[in-house]
Amino acid sequence: MLLLLAIIQLIAISAVSAAIYDVTKYGADHTGKVPSTDPIARAINDAESHGEGIVHFPPGEYVTGPIELKSNIILDIPEGTTITFLDDPALYPPLDVSLPDGKRRKVDFTPLIRGFGLNNVTIRGNGVIEGNGEIWWDRLPPPATRPIVIYFYDCQNITLKNITVRNSPMFNVNIGWSDYIVIDGITIRNPESYHGSGPNTDGINLYSVTKVHVMNVDVATGDDCLVLDAWGYNKDRVPTHDVLIENSYMSIGHSGVGIGSITAGGIRNVTIRNCVFDSVCRGVDIRSNNERGGVVEDILYQNLTMRNCTWEGISINLIKDYNDKGRQPIGDQTPFVRNIRYENIRGDAEREAIYFYGLPEAPIKNVVLENVDMRSKKPEPILLRNTKNIVINGNRY
Ligand SMILES: *[C@@H]1O[C@H](CO)[C@@H](O)[C@H](O)[C@H]1NC(C)=O
Ligand SMILES: *[C@@H]1O[C@H](CO)[C@@H](O)[C@H](O)[C@H]1NC(C)=O
Ligand SMILES: *[C@@H]1O[C@H](CO)[C@@H](O)[C@H](O)[C@H]1NC(C)=O
Ligand SMILES: *[C@@H]1O[C@H](CO)[C@@H](O)[C@H](O)[C@H]1NC(C)=O
Ligand SMILES: *[C@@H]1O[C@H](CO)[C@@H](O)[C@H](O)[C@H]1NC(C)=O
Ligand SMILES: *[C@@H]1O[C@H](CO)[C@@H](O)[C@H](O)[C@H]1NC(C)=O
Repeated sequence: MLLLLAIIQLIAISAVSAAIYDVTKYGADHTGKVPSTDPIARAINDAESHGEGIVHFPPGEYVTGPIELKSNIILDIPEGTTITFLDDPALYPPLDVSLPDGKRRKVDFTPLIRGFGLNNVTIRGNGVIEGNGEIWWDRLPPPATRPIVIYFYDCQNITLKNITVRNSPMFNVNIGWSDYIVIDGITIRNPESYHGSGPNTDGINLYSVTKVHVMNVDVATGDDCLVLDAWGYNKDRVPTHDVLIENSYMSIGHSGVGIGSITAGGIRNVTIRNCVFDSVCRGVDIRSNNERGGVVEDILYQNLTMRNCTWEGISINLIKDYNDKGRQPIGDQTPFVRNIRYENIRGDAEREAIYFYGLPEAPIKNVVLENVDMRSKKPEPILLRNTKNIVINGNRY
């Protein structure tokens, strides 16, 4: 009877948890002396050939070149594991992938960890992914593009859980044209600036995505902490919508949460709540301009503390480089921003507490700020230009 129970339990367990593919069994070196690029690929391919699996890195140090993920894989990077990417640029050549629908996607440098056209992928664990970005930053100044650490494109059901990403050559996490994304408990650490300018190391960059939940993240970086964009031109515009960002901490970086400036595809139904932003340049901002197009609407900001913003606190800016060119004809490239709500926001900013600068041909419309207590060092803490129907703490402007 006992044996039978044990067998039933075993069957139950194996039915719910995928098999483990330990990278050291495929020859990976956990002392970090020998690159493990090929053994890691073999473990992933073996899991894939069995339909699914957990690719596990026992605690230790691993060095490797780029890693290509497959569908139905969990990349398990537990506490005590560090995966360091080799900083030889020759390992990251330009990439031209063909996607499931036959379209092609080119990227300038092979990402450190990539997934194109995949379904059901998780990267999890309390371990560290070391991007080793210094030699790339040394090649600055921008616009040099560089490898991205985690890059998913045209994917569904992507989960990032608990991992730490450090010292990315460029963006840390970059997910585009994808749906059902969970980012929970990850930490991102990059230098604030390098050789005098931020090295374009955005923390989490999401574009043309839907069904996104970001929670419990802690980001400190040299560019925006989190960005939502929506790419696309003409008939090919792909929106971003149904996004929830909560319980997160952003410190050091250009924007706590930035929406745009790539707004062409349209961005809607976004909630950002219960977050603390510390010493970022702008607390929260929406930015676009009359070359970007698209509609940004139904955005809710709730319960945010934004301490020591070194630029503006709450910003919506549709003027490129603060350079107002006056009224332009309305067209495909005109951006519209409307139906934005800010509730229970406190903090302080060196520049304006509230900075809304619309376009004469497309004023920023229907914005409500309620219980907003943002201090500013400027004598005029609120700037409103080209706006319509703005209500700030009960006063209509
Ligand atoms: C997703 O992948 C995991 C890990 O391999 C697997 O256990 C799970 O069954 C997959 N889920 C679906 C719905 O295929
Ligand atoms: C994530 O981290 C929390 C807190 O350290 C821990 O309780 C949880 O088991 C971790 N989950 C995974 C999948 O690593
Ligand atoms: C992704 O997950 C969602 C929610 O669990 C599910 O509805 C959807 O079918 C999944 N997508 C794919 C392609 O498996
Ligand atoms: C807005 O997005 C949330 C997820 O953040 C979703 O639950 C909700 O249904 C969406 N609302 C609409 C009107 O689509
Ligand atoms: C507001 O956000 C802070 C910081 O994330 C959190 O501790 C607090 O519980 C939130 N308050 C409410 C009412 O959700
Ligand atoms: C405010 O932010 C600046 C720039 O990040 C930083 O140098 C300064 O120490 C911060 N001040 C406080 C009081 O946190």
